[in-house]
Amino acid sequence: MAGLFASPKGVAEYVPPDSERFLAVRIALSAPARRAGYGYIELPIFEDTALFVRGVGESTDVVGKEMYTFTDRGDRSLTLRPEGTASVVRAAIEHGVLQGTLPVKLWYAGPFFRAERPQQGRYRQFQQVGIEALGVNDPALDAETIALADEALRSLGLSNFRILLNCLGDAESRPGYREKLLTFLRGLDLDEATQARAEANPLRVLDDKRPQVQRQLADAPLIVDSLSDSAAQHHQQVRAYLNDLGIAFEDAPKLVRGLDYYTGTTFEVVHDGLGAQSAIGGGGSYDSLIGDLGGPDLPGIGFALGVDRTLLACDAEGIDLGAHPSCDVFLVPLGVGAKQVLVKLAAELRMAGIRVDMAFGDRGMKGAMRAADRAGARIALLVGDREISSGVATVKDLATSEQVEVSADSLVDFIQEKLR
Ligand code: HAM
Repeated sequence: MAGLFASPKGVAEYVPPDSERFLAVRIALSAPARRAGYGYIELPIFEDTALFVRGVGESTDVVGKEMYTFTDRGDRSLTLRPEGTASVVRAAIEHGVLQGTLPVKLWYAGPFFRAERPQQGRYRQFQQVGIEALGVNDPALDAETIALADEALRSLGLSNFRILLNCLGDAESRPGYREKLLTFLRGLDLDEATQARAEANPLRVLDDKRPQVQRQLADAPLIVDSLSDSAAQHHQQVRAYLNDLGIAFEDAPKLVRGLDYYTGTTFEVVHDGLGAQSAIGGGGSYDSLIGDLGGPDLPGIGFALGVDRTLLACDAEGIDLGAHPSCDVFLVPLGVGAKQVLVKLAAELRMAGIRVDMAFGDRGMKGAMRAADRAGARIALLVGDREISSGVATVKDLATSEQVEVSADSLVDFIQEKLR
């Protein structure tokens, strides 16, 4: 039945039972970071527009074309967050946490917003789980970050993904490379907009997915060939740590990410069963973002995993996420007196940690049993006038249809035992 309204175009929405799978993915994706000392940070859904313009970069598609920006009643320009890193850095500076022990490790989860053209796996409201480690430049920390992404995805049973690794260089490597790349790009047959992009940020052009551009980039100079000694050494150490950890990765010397703050280690995780929207996560380090946002001159590194796409990847690999039934015990009151008894019993069973639902709305025995089935219950508990007068309840095993009468005072123990 169509109602008067539909959800906005391109919004990923999850209703039961799929929402249980979504939740299972989101929880699993954050678990490795929580075990590695990351503390939770709850960020605002909207921020000052200028934070993203400065943090993410004006030449990016995210800032140039995809932000949901609005003016509030106080004439302030605000933007629904398109990503989390700029907000984490802003909050870390604002709350003074960078003055304590470093690195500061933070994780976050929730919806993000980009006005992209919607398609399978690409939404205007999508969900990420992300982590950021702020304040320390250490190849071991870069490797740990990548390892946590790998572990998060593997913990779901995923295996058909690849980690693409690149190094975008440090402040010493970048200007020379930028010049080399720009000279190369100026010699290509590019449309005006792309030429302008090249002049503003030549690395952006490497990310151009159009075949006519990609073809011309085959011989583009690579950043790995322009790295300073310390950047090259850092990169080699990251690779060595990853090898030690047994984490497979592919060198991707043309990998640039869609956000401008990246320097040094950058990576993307692609899943091979997803078609065009194959990136299920990405991240890397950012040497100057904290300073650019008014904080101390400290580096950071992090990643974000796309929850929606990770769920699609689980579907593509046929992974059973154990979509949990919503309850174990379903209470069926047969009459007004019985309802009074069972409302109390439901509370008592839930206090004992048992997942309980009950038939509401007096739809009769048949409707109640159908509801019990739909709820995934293993046990139905039936109480009518007869049971009340003899102080018992009828316990029905829904798998075998066996029924027994159990006295009211041993009911909680009996059910706990049966569910074990
Ligand atoms: P990102 O690569 O823009 O990085 O996004 C990370 C992940 O979010 C993507 O790999 C993808 O799975 C998911 N994602 C992005 N856009 C969409 C969309 N329109 N629909 C569905 N899923 C999407 C960042 O956002 C950085 N803040 C990551 C980071 C953290 N770097 C350092 N720290």
